[in-house]
Amino acid sequence: MSAASLAAVRGMNDVLPADIGAWQHLERVSAALFAAYGYEELRVPVVEQTGLFKRAIGEFTDIVEKEMFTFSEADGESLTLRPEATAGVARAAITNGLLRGARLKLWTCGPMFRHERPQAGRYRQFHQFSVEALGFAGPDIDIELIAMSARLWKQLGLTGITLKLNSLGTPESRRAYREQLVGYFTQHAALLDADSQRRLHGNPLRILDSKNPAMQAVVAGAPLLPEFLDAESREHFAAVCATLTAMQIPHVVDPRLVRGLDYYSRTVFEWVGDALGSQNAVCSGGRYDGLIAQLGGPATPAIGFAMGVERVVMLLQQAGSVPASAGADVYVITGGERATRAGLALVERLRDALPGLRFEMNQGGGNFKAQFRRADRSGARLALILGDEEMERGAAALKPLRQELAQAETPLAELPARIPALLDTLQDRGG
Ligand code: HAM
Repeated sequence: MSAASLAAVRGMNDVLPADIGAWQHLERVSAALFAAYGYEELRVPVVEQTGLFKRAIGEFTDIVEKEMFTFSEADGESLTLRPEATAGVARAAITNGLLRGARLKLWTCGPMFRHERPQAGRYRQFHQFSVEALGFAGPDIDIELIAMSARLWKQLGLTGITLKLNSLGTPESRRAYREQLVGYFTQHAALLDADSQRRLHGNPLRILDSKNPAMQAVVAGAPLLPEFLDAESREHFAAVCATLTAMQIPHVVDPRLVRGLDYYSRTVFEWVGDALGSQNAVCSGGRYDGLIAQLGGPATPAIGFAMGVERVVMLLQQAGSVPASAGADVYVITGGERATRAGLALVERLRDALPGLRFEMNQGGGNFKAQFRRADRSGARLALILGDEEMERGAAALKPLRQELAQAETPLAELPARIPALLDTLQDRGG
């Protein structure tokens, strides 16, 4: 197989060790925050029946029409790599009987698959953290979810992320709006681009999302959704906005925010990263009060959001707010073959005695100079040097790596006490 035919699949990326620190930091901070708000983790399969996504996301959405990775089983069953997690979480809650009047606060994470045109921030395999609150009808949970995401940005040290929100109302008010919109765009059909022509009868609300500059004038003149909201949705949305203001969470009401999945009703929102270019939504979601009943479960109001991991990682790296990755504490340098063999057993004993410390033992030989170079690169603060002669005397040497301090010979039996004591006196890595 040539190197060219070994290429990774287009739009699907490896996460290399140089980037993994940012991923793990985001994963740790998010999991701890969701737990602190009472959310429990749930894991659902990457593959579901194609029909689930068609029913949940909607036949006329971009995702279902052209972005799903779908394949057939031998028996003809059609399966799809999940393009998002909400449908799978709703399916899992129903098929595992988790609902039955219960309220559930769940989160999940993992890879999602959409056959989109890859570009910076847009991939065919990407990762999401998806947070879902099932069984809550009032605006309070909308507000708490938004406050939780605002806190996440704060804990991650990210600024320049703006909150946009809108209300899509009930299916009835949306239907009335849809009719008005089809009427308006039909009147202006000559001004619509090919994409919008196609959406006109399947999914006219998505025309409002058009990024085509030539479409902006006709979109700007379109009737706006808030004018068609029913009284209850209006009240719900007013409560969300007023409480966010009282909580000093800045937000912008965007009457053209419609979202690309059909299951939404009432509150929808999107956090947008100012520094991200065209693929700037870092976290989006909203209510899906009708979805669970529509899938055959008990009527259960719900709301959730999903955060795009690659995009948040990009912001973390731009902001330089990724904590330094934890390297070794002690790098073990060895002399001859005998010292190396004895050293392997000694270092295992030290790992037993000092389970909190990271020992990296030199592997692959090399003279002392080469081994000290590797020790430096490892980030360790201390080198443990096992020479043949010292080992025969029952001793080893300890040498601080980040400070100009002399090497000190230490009896092997004293190492378990001496190593942590010495590390305590040394400044942090780089000091
Ligand atoms: P979504 O807006 O389709 O919503 O995706 C959520 C987030 O996933 C986006 O804001 C973006 O950060 C990221 N994302 C989407 N597509 C890509 C891509 N091709 N490459 C990189 N990142 C991407 C949902 O998926 C809903 N399930 C959210 C939700 C949960 N609503 C209620 N609960």
